[in-house]
Amino acid sequence: MDSEIGIKTGEIAQRWKGTPGMLTGALQEIQETFGYLPEEGIRTLASELDIPLSRIFSVATFYSFFRLTPPGLHHIQVCEGTACHVLGADQLSAKLFRDLKIGDEGVSEDRLFSIDRVRCLGCCSMAPVVRIDDRTYGRVRQKNVAGILKPYLKEGDGEN
Ligand code: FES
Repeated sequence: MDSEIGIKTGEIAQRWKGTPGMLTGALQEIQETFGYLPEEGIRTLASELDIPLSRIFSVATFYSFFRLTPPGLHHIQVCEGTACHVLGADQLSAKLFRDLKIGDEGVSEDRLFSIDRVRCLGCCSMAPVVRIDDRTYGRVRQKNVAGILKPYLKEGDGEN
């Protein structure tokens, strides 16, 4: 565990060890640090917290906000909370998956985009809501999807 992942995960584990909710807290911090939960990080956590690997994987796969694969260059969050759901979030996310040719693993083949379906992004009055990286788009309709994605497809950095 001399790699960056091993060292940083070890530090995170020590910070959370013995605290209430240490497993989910440590997993969240690992994901914030690396953008996903690397296998080496999970193994380090298991050994540092003395928790069986199987339990960590079951927690990591139970909560949809944990990712076991690295995100794409641009990460899309499609809100499927109640307000967004009633205004067509399901069809919106289906279109994004289809247009970007993203399968169940949630990342496009060129790794330019990844998608997560999430619960309430906290701006229900703008439903349905899609967030790409740090930018939030409200009242998104299927016909707007191409226009929203265009700058990210063109430049790969979302700046234009
Ligand atoms: S339900 Fe989508 S932002 Fe709240």
